[in-house]
Amino acid sequence: MTTTTAGDFDLVVIGGGPGGYAAALYAASAGMRVAVVEKEKVGGTCLLKGCVPTKEFLETASVYRTVSNAKEFGVEAGQPVVDFSISQDRKQKVVDHLQRGLTGLMRSRGIEILQGKGTLTPSHKVRISSGEEIAGRHILLASGSVPRTIPGFDIDGKTVITSDELLSLSDLPSSAVVIGGGAIGCEFASFLSDLGVHITILEALPRILAGCDSDVVTVVARSFRKRGIEVKTNVQVHGHRPNEHGKGTTVIYGQGEELNVDVVIVSVGRRPYTEGLLAPGTGVSVSAKGFVEVDPRMRTTADGVWAVGDLVDTPQLAHVGFAEAIVAVKDMLGEDAVPVDYTKVPWCIYCHPEVAFVGLTEEAALSAGYEVVVKKDPLGGNSRARILGETDGLVKVVAERNPDGHPGRVLGVHMVGPWVTEQLGQAYLSVNWEAAPEEIAQFIQPHPTLSEAFGETMLAITGRGLHVG
Ligand code: NAI
Repeated sequence: MTTTTAGDFDLVVIGGGPGGYAAALYAASAGMRVAVVEKEKVGGTCLLKGCVPTKEFLETASVYRTVSNAKEFGVEAGQPVVDFSISQDRKQKVVDHLQRGLTGLMRSRGIEILQGKGTLTPSHKVRISSGEEIAGRHILLASGSVPRTIPGFDIDGKTVITSDELLSLSDLPSSAVVIGGGAIGCEFASFLSDLGVHITILEALPRILAGCDSDVVTVVARSFRKRGIEVKTNVQVHGHRPNEHGKGTTVIYGQGEELNVDVVIVSVGRRPYTEGLLAPGTGVSVSAKGFVEVDPRMRTTADGVWAVGDLVDTPQLAHVGFAEAIVAVKDMLGEDAVPVDYTKVPWCIYCHPEVAFVGLTEEAALSAGYEVVVKKDPLGGNSRARILGETDGLVKVVAERNPDGHPGRVLGVHMVGPWVTEQLGQAYLSVNWEAAPEEIAQFIQPHPTLSEAFGETMLAITGRGLHVG
């Protein structure tokens, strides 16, 4: 066994996903000597089997829709045909390119990437499955999450799959049940349906996209319905019965209803991945739900050990992992780290139509006791949306009501429609700066753009709209 001496590394990170690699890059930029222990390749769920490959397939679906609608623009392109193996190859090229770039970037900053599974020992060293044991002045746990599963739906990788397997299918099924209508379920349902797969979503709660504003959900649900995606809410799933001839299965749900499909996609959330992470006696507390417990500066209950990303009980978003990594490293450096305000992080869901939001929904603001002023601007009157032919969407602003009845600080902005994930920036700044609509409305929005819907809604909520009443 090779053991490097304590202090050789300023920081040892377990897990090379967004939380872990961001911490490594940020720490190395600050002059720290860093090692990252990673059992696969650096990049994590987001780059290798999550956000990036899913968005690639959503882009394939977007190209398909554009070609299908080309005739409306006077462009004869014929009926598009999908060769999913080519889509897979392209997705893999994008992922591989980014993965190689990330590895190169880390190496160029002097970060050592050590291959193997890392375990924190009671003496706060990191034991690697290769047999090596390394020490560092600071340790960061960032081992991420894995898909949750449910009883009655054992993942076999062929008929019952999770996002992990779906993203490497070479052929599209002709039908699928998606269990769970959260972000992952809706993104998958959206692109698979656009590419011709008959989709049924089975969701246990009264609506899909549970954390989103109800007006936004209505727009998505209407678009899904128009495109033939069946959404069944308030539904319990009981199990499935594989077909005798070996292909496909019958899902049993609700009051004994049955649905025969080629594939079942289980997307019921992700759980923290702690298997083998902590040897007994580390002093790191883990909650009943399996998350590593941290304080606002990402410190665990053990001195010198921090944790970030999907391993801790905060929104499971890559950019939240990045932000937590910066907080943790600043804290290690003795700098004044501003904790992440989890109530005001940006959320983006890339189904069609896209969803983007920040801050409180109208329902959440009301139940938190705020009096609110609300304005909604449907995209039907937006020139750019009309030019694109994509008018399914809206911008909704929720502001605190001042005693004089005027809108005060903006509590939340909720968007649904084309490219809203690229337009959330100014909404994010508004909510986090606690700006009031009158202040925001002074700024000029370029015309014609999709982003002007945000500015128009801010003008309108002050009572003096231009195009929006
Ligand atoms: P989720 O927690 O967002 O949604 C899971 C859904 O499954 C919920 O609506 C839940 O009610 C439902 N569900 C749970 N058990 C069920 C059952 N037995 N039968 C029917 N429905 C059931 O989890 P998801 O979509 O798997 O995503 C995991 C994490 O990754 C989330 O935190 C999500 O925010 C994040 N993510 C974010 C994305 C984005 O921001 N674009 C994209 C993908 C994931």
